[in-house]
Amino acid sequence: MSTQQKSFSSNLGAIMAAVGSAVGLGNIWRFPYTCGKYGGGAFLIVYLGFVFFLGAVLMMSEFIIGRRAQHTPVKAFQALRPDRKGWGLIGLLGIVTSFFILSQYLVLSGWTTGYVWEAITGSLASLGTSAAPISDYFTQFSTDSWKPALFLAIFSVLVLLVILGGVQKGIENVSKVLMPVLVVLILVLCVRSLTLPGAYKGVEYLFSPDFSKLTGEGILAALGQSLFSLSVGMGVMIVYGSYIPVNDNIFKTAMWITVCDTLIAVLAGLAIFPAVFSCGFDPAGGPGLVFCVLPNVFNSMGSAGIVFSTIFFLLLMVAALTSAISLLEALTATISEHLGTCRVVGAVLFFILSTLFGVIFSLSMGPLSHVKLAGLTLFDSVDRLNSIYLPPLCALGTVVFLGWVMPEHDVHDEFTNHGVLSGRFYGMFRFLARYVVPVALLVVFVSGILM
Ligand code: PFF
Repeated sequence: MSTQQKSFSSNLGAIMAAVGSAVGLGNIWRFPYTCGKYGGGAFLIVYLGFVFFLGAVLMMSEFIIGRRAQHTPVKAFQALRPDRKGWGLIGLLGIVTSFFILSQYLVLSGWTTGYVWEAITGSLASLGTSAAPISDYFTQFSTDSWKPALFLAIFSVLVLLVILGGVQKGIENVSKVLMPVLVVLILVLCVRSLTLPGAYKGVEYLFSPDFSKLTGEGILAALGQSLFSLSVGMGVMIVYGSYIPVNDNIFKTAMWITVCDTLIAVLAGLAIFPAVFSCGFDPAGGPGLVFCVLPNVFNSMGSAGIVFSTIFFLLLMVAALTSAISLLEALTATISEHLGTCRVVGAVLFFILSTLFGVIFSLSMGPLSHVKLAGLTLFDSVDRLNSIYLPPLCALGTVVFLGWVMPEHDVHDEFTNHGVLSGRFYGMFRFLARYVVPVALLVVFVSGILM
């Protein structure tokens, strides 16, 4: 195998960067409302099952493929089975998925960046506490022709700057600083939220299991959320896997990331729902919860509201930044390896393309809303592609490759660091990777298409 000189400097650096990728809008924006919608504690139980028995296994699989091959996705699959080069298509699928996820992610990140600005300048606070002006404001903001595009572009430039800084100096160092900041910000918000009068109702909503709300759709949502939240099924963790130091215990690293990611999602729920209930708002706010309901909650906190809303949107932006970084890194590393160019060329190329696509998806909610694909706006089409089709398919290909195609000796070698580690969980990992995860993904993929 060829050796890439790029690598994280330490095990901690690798964990921080991968946690940075995993913890994002998925945890703070998507998890709380999805959990609330599908039965609170009931959803949480199913989600935990998927996260630990499926998502974590996929993460280990991607790390193993990446570290063993020391290549980006397409070449990684080909290098591990040179006689079956067709498997490189799974890597290509991952890279295409990363591109579409990044373009869509930039839209939401742009809104978040815009809301940091609106919170700091007091525009959000000036809307008062009634629901209509706040949601009208959000509708106006998100359908505006230039505002979301401008903030999207500002956010993209930040992502690009980190990538240009390189793997250690850019990604690793930024993650090492931003991740602890994020934990502090979220804890501050949790304390504030949990000490509001009547906060317990929010805790109850999040944790008490209501199995009547846990439909088949809820189970699919739990699986989709677990893949998205752990950043698996798009090749990103294959690229990060190639940067993991050789003496790093892949099993432990993946478990740490999974635990941290899950804890942050639960903390986000604890920061949001108690406040929503305490202020008497509707918890079923759905995707608009963060942008339409929370400003209400902050405004009803009096003058401290500006501080808390700024903290909240900053938190959301920090989380989004480290995730977007991992997506652009996967694209940058891949194109640079294939074209043999320096990282700057690849980074700038995908920065331009993803920003352009992001702006088009953003405009499809406003001036371009008449452009439809199979009856859906462009944003809704890419959302469907990114949730139902691409990640489960790519995840399925990856795990089948690891379980059935890649030489077992290579898998065992990476899992145990060439026999140095005992590999106590290897048998369970292999069983899950060969049978349980592929079957679960297949069922979900087919039912997702049929629904
Ligand atoms: N895991 C991120 C989140 O929860 O917001 C989203 C994400 C990042 C998905 C990177 C995929 C990825 F490759």
